[in-house]
Amino acid sequence: MEPYRIKAVEALPFTDREHRERSLREAGYNLFRVSAEDVTIDLLTDSGTGSMSAGQWAALMEGDEAYAGAKSYRAFEDRVRDLTGHRHILPVHQGRAGERVLFQAMELRGKVSFSNGHYDTTAANVVLAGGRPVDTRTTKARDFHSPYPFKGNLDLDALRARLLGRSGGEEVALVLLTLTDNGGGGHPVALSHAREIADLCRSRGVPLFLDAARYAENAYLNLLRGEAPQSSPEEIAREFFRTADGALCSLRKDTFGNMGGFLSIDDDALAERCQELVVATEGFATYGGMAGRDLASLTRGIIEATEPRYLAHRYSAAEAFARALADEGLPVMRPTACHAVYIDAGAVMRHIPAREFPAVAFANELFLAAGVRSAEMGSLEAGTYASSGEPAAQRELLRLALPRRVYTQSHLAYVAEAVGRVASHAERLTGYEVLHQPRHLRHFTATLRPLDASESKRR
Ligand SMILES: Cc1ncc(COP(=O)(O)O)c(C=O)c1O
Repeated sequence: MEPYRIKAVEALPFTDREHRERSLREAGYNLFRVSAEDVTIDLLTDSGTGSMSAGQWAALMEGDEAYAGAKSYRAFEDRVRDLTGHRHILPVHQGRAGERVLFQAMELRGKVSFSNGHYDTTAANVVLAGGRPVDTRTTKARDFHSPYPFKGNLDLDALRARLLGRSGGEEVALVLLTLTDNGGGGHPVALSHAREIADLCRSRGVPLFLDAARYAENAYLNLLRGEAPQSSPEEIAREFFRTADGALCSLRKDTFGNMGGFLSIDDDALAERCQELVVATEGFATYGGMAGRDLASLTRGIIEATEPRYLAHRYSAAEAFARALADEGLPVMRPTACHAVYIDAGAVMRHIPAREFPAVAFANELFLAAGVRSAEMGSLEAGTYASSGEPAAQRELLRLALPRRVYTQSHLAYVAEAVGRVASHAERLTGYEVLHQPRHLRHFTATLRPLDASESKRR
């Protein structure tokens, strides 16, 4: 059962199919553009959508709004330094702001950021800084059904080849380990693997950074899957941060923030360059784009994020949801992550080719049928940085993200049943064509047009 009781509630919006058809049409058939008032269950993302605890709401009132040297910042800094062990702690308004600041300060032009998997904004920020994001998921990670427990691990042979090869890894500006690998299925990275990477990076003088948006869930999955059985999620998270030279962290995920992030850095000179950019573009170095009350409630959120009972429930709820979807006959990615359940929409709708976005077709029908919003993670999303020569998506996934402490098990039972209903008539769905798209991160704002069956055949 949920290890909390509900203290404030918000009514769900209920609409009918006709209303949702209008809403989706007006949104250019892109669920990111649909008004949240038209969505009954919103599983678009787990980012910034969690519920704050009573403790976090109480902490808001203690927020110190001084421009410089606020006590809320000092408490935040102490907490983050205690967690990460890094010398310099810079608050930023959200994860991608930290990405922009770090990559600009590292002068990525002509350089590579080497990763298990860059998240979409991370990849876009590498490209915008003139760099090249290289993702190296392993064969096991690419196998949708493999039960391998640490599919978030990067391809160590590929990293060795880069760093020890002829070029000596000169072009590698940093190695970035994403915990958990959201773009690849929310899979964890093993602590022993992170340590091996850290040793290799250190021997070549290449900095290792963590994209630690889901550091607590990653730590829990390490505990659950036998990497550090005698430890606690908090201890494992600490160990992870200590393998790295720094971290980028969105606080909109595991720490229940509706807004927030930080950059933690060991290197004094790099930290100074980052601080200059934070002050120029985010806000003074002791608030970095956040209000003092946000810092106060995030400090509390960091404590709650690694609470073992909460994490155990979070994982078991995701696992039960995945089982319910599998019982409806859907191909569900194994093993289950904490923050989302991923479905192989390409396999459900083999009649729609990748260029016509099968996962968009499934997601849109799920919205029309049941008012459930989900996210495509396929060729619409992966096409975002095609200009840098990256391949299109390897899979056409539908991601059902789980906001933290928001929906109960009965909400998820409703969703599982609705997904099953859509899958039962999936062969009748048709694909989409892009009408308009920006140069980067097109899935957020593109407009599309549904193809009818005869058009689809002709293409
Ligand atoms: C792995 C990962 N890194 C970075 C980000 C960016 O964080 P933010 O949304 O706070 O900018 C996200 C957002 O979803 C993410 O999942």
